[in-house]
Amino acid sequence: MGLLAGWVVLRLALQAMKKLRPIVATVVAVNLFNLGADWVLVFGAGPIPQLGPLGSAWASTIARTLSGTWRLRGPSSRTGRPSGRGGETASSAGTLGEPGERLKIAGIEAVIEEDGGLHLYPGRTEWGAGLVVGSEILCYRRLPSTNDRTRLIVDSNGPSGMVVLAEEQSGGRGRHGRVWHSPAGLGLYFSVLLRPSVSSDHLGWVTLSAALALARAARLLGASLGIKWPNDVECDGKKLAGLLAEAIYEADRLKAIVLGVGVNIDWEPDRLPEEVRERATALSCCTPATVDPDVLMASWLWEADTLFRELDEQEVEGAPPLASEVMARMTHIGELVRIKSSDGIVEGICTGLSAEGFLELDGGRMVTSGELVPPAGGKK
Ligand code: BTN
Repeated sequence: MGLLAGWVVLRLALQAMKKLRPIVATVVAVNLFNLGADWVLVFGAGPIPQLGPLGSAWASTIARTLSGTWRLRGPSSRTGRPSGRGGETASSAGTLGEPGERLKIAGIEAVIEEDGGLHLYPGRTEWGAGLVVGSEILCYRRLPSTNDRTRLIVDSNGPSGMVVLAEEQSGGRGRHGRVWHSPAGLGLYFSVLLRPSVSSDHLGWVTLSAALALARAARLLGASLGIKWPNDVECDGKKLAGLLAEAIYEADRLKAIVLGVGVNIDWEPDRLPEEVRERATALSCCTPATVDPDVLMASWLWEADTLFRELDEQEVEGAPPLASEVMARMTHIGELVRIKSSDGIVEGICTGLSAEGFLELDGGRMVTSGELVPPAGGKK
């Protein structure tokens, strides 16, 4: 976009911001001018209250670095973007360069790995020094599964907060051995390595924090998301994202958690099979704003860093500070629910979450794990 057009858009957006709530103005600006969503964060550096000035500036830089990362590589087969996300081997890395080469993308240091991954170091910037989640980000065009790649990083004692991101997965995994279809251009697929210090019976909050971080990040784009215990994120009653937390133990000690996040970003519902359309949705169907996965990723990192830190720093046993926000976003509260677990099926009225993040039924019964399935008698 030319400088003049950018200036005009900026003036109009600022005028709108004076009159309207900031997020509305942002959505208006995005819709009217069909701006790339990374502009959202540029406009929002001051007025979008959710991330605050520092968060907006940080997320904006990360989003620019990610889009710069993809731009360095050859054209994408699927996305139709002017430039695509990178190649997974050095030979298919387009203009990226040779393994071991050092780059700087939007002010962030990067190194090309032997396997063609681009290793970003946001934590080495002055303002990123205190951050854990996203202090290092490893970007690939294609991986079998970001969770599998992250498990290898656990084995080599990689740092907590390290993120592995792929444009496409050939073997994306869901819960209960399901496949997570992960074509390029349709979703966001990433994993985070965490070494949480929360007690083992509070680990459910790690997944719920990640879900809340997504809901907060999506709110910046005008989407209102619900959290379906234990690890789904929904919009309008349909699944929008799934979380796969894998705990890695060394002897009896929790060594790390690999937390995988898959978000449906850009779908054309008419082109989907009906059974998928009925059960699942994508962010592009939940907001009129242009959804840029790099912006969503960057905002998620910022929110997740805050939430995981709060969780880790909690000293007293009991529900963490984020519990009330999770509960306010929880779907199925007050409804008759049915939970299928390895112990069988239980039913009851969903009344909230326990201090450990377990599902509470009928105001007292706790369900520690399982999957919410449609109740035999429908909603109550
Ligand atoms: C589910 O709802 O079943 C969880 C889906 C988790 C999918 C994500 S995509 C990124 C990460 N890598 C994987 O192989 N799975 C997770």
